[in-house]
Amino acid sequence: MNQDIQSVKRLEGIMTVPGDKSVSHRALMFGAIATGDTHIRQLSHGQDVQSTRRCLEQCGVSFTETADSLIVHGAGFTLQAPENILDAGNSGTTMRLFSGILAAQPFQCTIKGDASLTKRPMKRIIEPLTLMGASIESENGYPPLRISGKQLIAIDYLSPVASAQVKSCILIAGLFSNGITSVTEPQLSRDHTERMLPCFGIPVQRDGLKVSVEGPARLQGTSLLVPGDISSAAFFMVAASLLPDSKLVIQNVGMNPSRTGIYDVLIQMGGKIAKQNQRIENGEPVADLVIESSHLRGVTIEGNMIPKLIDELPLLAVAATQAEGRTIIRDAKELRVKESDRIETVANNLKAMGCEITATEDGFIIDGPQPLQGATLPTYHDHRIAMSFAIAGLFAKGRTTILDAETAEISFPGFYNLLDDITYG
Ligand code: S3P
Repeated sequence: MNQDIQSVKRLEGIMTVPGDKSVSHRALMFGAIATGDTHIRQLSHGQDVQSTRRCLEQCGVSFTETADSLIVHGAGFTLQAPENILDAGNSGTTMRLFSGILAAQPFQCTIKGDASLTKRPMKRIIEPLTLMGASIESENGYPPLRISGKQLIAIDYLSPVASAQVKSCILIAGLFSNGITSVTEPQLSRDHTERMLPCFGIPVQRDGLKVSVEGPARLQGTSLLVPGDISSAAFFMVAASLLPDSKLVIQNVGMNPSRTGIYDVLIQMGGKIAKQNQRIENGEPVADLVIESSHLRGVTIEGNMIPKLIDELPLLAVAATQAEGRTIIRDAKELRVKESDRIETVANNLKAMGCEITATEDGFIIDGPQPLQGATLPTYHDHRIAMSFAIAGLFAKGRTTILDAETAEISFPGFYNLLDDITYG
């Protein structure tokens, strides 16, 4: 499907965004290995989360849908051996977190992904899981993974990357081992796993950047409300900030401090975003955001900030083209191993829109403001590229066509309709 985007004058409305993708994956997986039922409200309906659900179903986990929730009927510690190859689709989180569970199961299985996921590095989880005693065969560190589950050994692991997927994979495997499993990361990555496990009755210890769980840990089913995904809200936060005379309310947005880099940076750029109705739900901070138009200035984004907005960097590169002055993004080499090489794909698409951008090994340099020209743009099977460039299209002269635009459904079903509903002119 191709999606045409025209420039608009302003943005106005009250809206919500789908449930947080990271929280949704964890809610399903923890519910699956718990004893008893877990009731989840506002679960993401994106394709990535469906991939997790399908993998769990293949391993014998059953679900019941009610009017307002999904009930996971916990299988307890031991899942059933799947009859066929598990398919994580486009979802790195499914493959990496679920491998932590599979590594401890009394069976062998294979988990594969789509063309994009097949190019994403898995050594980062194969190494620690192997240290824990699992046996994993791969295509030179890439999917598919052939996992032979074992009784796992607890480890104290120093992770070379600030990755919540790696941290969570090891902590999940630690739930099945005997003793204390710890992960120390170089910078704080999103901490949804640490916040959610206590909801299932499992204590998590934190000491600076070191986080630990003690196994064997028997999870108890619970009730969870998934906050709106700040990574999805981000597209509208940026558009409302940049379009004159805009005022937008986004309700129920997850404001976990390990995810709010987009909010922090927009404020630093001169954005006007107010937090209302702040509350905590299942250990996760949530708020309603009121965004008004503002005059954004260029900014440097680096260091510890990067993991807090890693998924929003393509969008921030688009925002930087409309901000006054220079924006520098660095220390973001991880962008090269996301659903696409996001340094290359962002630079390609911005150049196609007539923009001057310097792509570096670990980021971008962009001088703004620059006029954007409408263009026909590939999405490289990357949902965040599709949506970031739909936002770019709102500021471009002439029509922008997003090719294979349906890839947005990976995390944000209904994105284009919602955009249409709140844009005017
Ligand atoms: C995720 C962690 C991030 C993020 C991804 C979801 C998670 O990846 O980019 O979209 O749910 O844990 P890394 O932890 O590998 O950086």
